[in-house]
Amino acid sequence: MIDIKRDPFGSLPDETAIEIYTLTNDKGLKARLMTYGAILVSLEVPDRNGVLGDITLGYDSLDGYLKASPYFGAIVGRYGNRIAKGRFILDGIEYKLATNDGINHLHGGVKGFDKVVWAAEPVEEANAAGVRFTYLSRDGEEGYPGNLRVVVTYSLTNDNELRISYEAETDKATPINLTHHSYFNLAGKGDVLGHRLTLYADKFTPVDEGLIPTGEVLDVKGTPMDFTKGEAVGSRIAQVKGGYDHNYVLRSGGGSLALAAGVYEPITGRLMEIFTTEPGIQFYSGNFLDGTIAGKGGLAYTKHGGLCLETQHFPDSPNQPNFPSSILEPGRKLASLTVHKFSTK
Ligand code: BGC
Repeated sequence: MIDIKRDPFGSLPDETAIEIYTLTNDKGLKARLMTYGAILVSLEVPDRNGVLGDITLGYDSLDGYLKASPYFGAIVGRYGNRIAKGRFILDGIEYKLATNDGINHLHGGVKGFDKVVWAAEPVEEANAAGVRFTYLSRDGEEGYPGNLRVVVTYSLTNDNELRISYEAETDKATPINLTHHSYFNLAGKGDVLGHRLTLYADKFTPVDEGLIPTGEVLDVKGTPMDFTKGEAVGSRIAQVKGGYDHNYVLRSGGGSLALAAGVYEPITGRLMEIFTTEPGIQFYSGNFLDGTIAGKGGLAYTKHGGLCLETQHFPDSPNQPNFPSSILEPGRKLASLTVHKFSTK
């Protein structure tokens, strides 16, 4: 049995009421999800002694998320990561998107899916229960073509998995790249430099100064980008200008559910494995956290205080002909799944 509870979680300045769902599985794993941004507000998982701890960064109340949030726990869309200069050409038409990261478009624009209110309903499946979030992104929103219906379902299983499934349909061809943006810290405090990361990826897509892919696909072997054998996040980070903020090309190639990443925290013994049907994963080592955000319990989130592993299509795909296509056509249904599996060792 997975327990589902629904509670009020404050309201927006325009008085829209926000709700929060709490899911608890029979091992005590607990996920809290709110209708603003379809945000995972907290995720409590056991350590090797069975002690529960929240392993995600964020805020205790809605206010923090409304004031300033670097996408803590949110669903990111319509297009996760960057689109160069906020423009692309599709079927001969040039589209101009909102630019909110210098000259570039980032994470869906000024008001991305992380800042909208989603409709929500509880769902129960065999051995899993969760919340189904739905949102209609209108034709022209942030500059994107087509009315896009998005369904994101988070569910917990009694095997200590948090599953995130994405579905979408459009009435005009559109780029789409939906992802989940939790900042994880498996110790629940300090930085993530001692977390051991494994990425099931032999290649990555290098970026320019503005973090836009150059279009190359390079081997990680023999470079500080190599996490194929499991490495501490901090062991070579000083050699990577600005820290890690790169898309890795998954060995699986996407299309079917495959292991993408493993993160192990040696002090608490917590292990998180990520499986996905996506072809890429963005490893972001929390480089822009600078201590100015006081998050849960007043904790200041300093540089590398959390890490993101965002399953995705590659950044700037609409302008990169050699990357897997991120275009959803009318009449087709997008279906994507990412599973976070928790255990200890
Ligand atoms: C991106 C970073 C960006 C961050 C925003 C990550 O997904 O890769 O470049 O700064 O999101 O908080």
